Amino acid sequence: MPQSRFESDAMADKCETLIAERGWGFWAVETKATEEFIGFVGLHIPSTTLPFSPCVEIGWRLDRSYWGRGYATEAARTALQVGLERLALKEIVSFTAIGNRRSRAVMERLHMVRDEETFDHPDVPEESGLREHCLYRISRENWKKDTA
Ligand SMILES: CC(C)(COP(=O)(O)OP(=O)(O)OC[C@H]1O[C@@H](n2cnc3c(N)ncnc32)[C@H](O)[C@@H]1OP(=O)(O)O)[C@@H](O)C(=O)NCCC(=O)NCCS
Repeated sequence: MPQSRFESDAMADKCETLIAERGWGFWAVETKATEEFIGFVGLHIPSTTLPFSPCVEIGWRLDRSYWGRGYATEAARTALQVGLERLALKEIVSFTAIGNRRSRAVMERLHMVRDEETFDHPDVPEESGLREHCLYRISRENWKKDTA
């Protein structure tokens, strides 16, 4: 279900506050050609404790009409570069409901490596059927090898 205007504004405010505090976060994504706002991609410290915490995650959400053009992967590569090179993080993770094929495909295009074990995301209601999540990781070492 889409977020209400209120929920969406609250999330944008939260993203802005975190970027102001930390210098990084979920950044707005615009198309180069038209500078239209199409969603967000970026880095975040999950507010919930997860089995692999502490961690920094990479995440994304684009307007559906902009899917299928490579924008998420292009923006995510830049976000990984900021995280692993400029911020010198040792590792960045990403996770999603196991059935989220598109999100997993972005992780795989980024050469993130999947953990064998899945985990139940504590914030996702059982009845949604989306609780079981898979986890992908990329280390600074592997990123360097990949981009060398
Ligand atoms: C997850 C999400 C960001 C993925 O978006 P996406 O458009 O599928 O991913 P990309 O931007 O990497 O685009 C890749 C697709 O663009 C295609 N493409 C077209 N032109 C391209 C180009 N010039 N360069 C690269 N890829 C291109 C690729 O072939 C690929 O197509 P395919 O999906 O048919 O294989 C999007 O589905 C989304 O916002 N989902 C809802 C939010 C969500 O689930 N977030 C994760 C929650 S954990």
